[in-house]
Amino acid sequence: MTRITVDSLTKEYGDTVALDDVSFEIPEGEFVVVLGVSGSGKSTLLRCLNGLTDPTGGEIVVGDEEVTSLRRDVAMIFQQHNIIGQMTAYSNALTGSLGRNRFLTSLFQLQDREEKLRALRALDTVGLLNESQQKARRMSGGQQQRVGIARALVQEPSVLLADEPVASLDPGSAQQVMGYLRTAAEERGLTAVISLHQVNLARKFGQRFIGLRDGQKVFDGYREEMTMDIVDEIYGDIDTEGMLAETETETGGGSPDSTVDEPTTDEGSTEA
Ligand SMILES: Nc1ncnc2c1ncn2[C@@H]1O[C@H](COP(=O)(O)OP(=O)(O)O)[C@@H](O)[C@H]1O
Ligand SMILES: [Mg+2]
Repeated sequence: MTRITVDSLTKEYGDTVALDDVSFEIPEGEFVVVLGVSGSGKSTLLRCLNGLTDPTGGEIVVGDEEVTSLRRDVAMIFQQHNIIGQMTAYSNALTGSLGRNRFLTSLFQLQDREEKLRALRALDTVGLLNESQQKARRMSGGQQQRVGIARALVQEPSVLLADEPVASLDPGSAQQVMGYLRTAAEERGLTAVISLHQVNLARKFGQRFIGLRDGQKVFDGYREEMTMDIVDEIYGDIDTEGMLAETETETGGGSPDSTVDEPTTDEGSTEA
């Protein structure tokens, strides 16, 4: 069972307290959004959950095991998706098996049938099965991030982490990527922790919300509990007016048919 327990987590960098005595429990299969302004501790929290950063104090348990280093069952998606442009979407997705295989095996695509099927299935989950042979550099930012999600899924994790996965995307693509992330987690029963700084996106896709401010947990609750006062508390002096209102009118952000993900490259993405 892949629940996450965070107990009195603290992380200090010299005099900076990046995380200050943060505790929460996430049941298996929940889709949690971590909210907070820049510098509030979101990345530090995710890096601790992933075993990339050692806490100064406290404990993190995923499943039955304390997190002490990188783990196969915990996958992370970053804002900069580290996708290799020269490679196809399919080959990029396959590199998710790298932990299991040696690099050369991956390079020459000598993976076994099961791994190849896993990569195709992951691309299907993010709606890119038909683009699997497309070079990543010919794809839009949103599509590339979906390849990043596919690669994480190929790792067959039980926990999916993403640190501001849509921060560099336009609103339409951002919504679409968040939609695929949510679907992927639901389809596969993954426990997900995603950091975002946009309240409207968070409200649209999050199930539960954890608000950080100056490294402290200032909110932990579900959609109906996240009122304007709470948003103000998380965001402090930042002008949050309209952040909640947007959610109501914005349904679809970039038009309801934002299923079409326009390429951002000026050379176009259609290639025979
Ligand atoms: N490697 C680091 N060295 C020193 N300070 C850091 C480091 N990483 C983060 N911090 C500090 O910790 C605080 C939280 O940062 P971070 O977790 O990156 O927040 P967020 O992701 O919400 O922007 C900030 O004050 C930041 O400057
Ligand atoms: Mg960050």
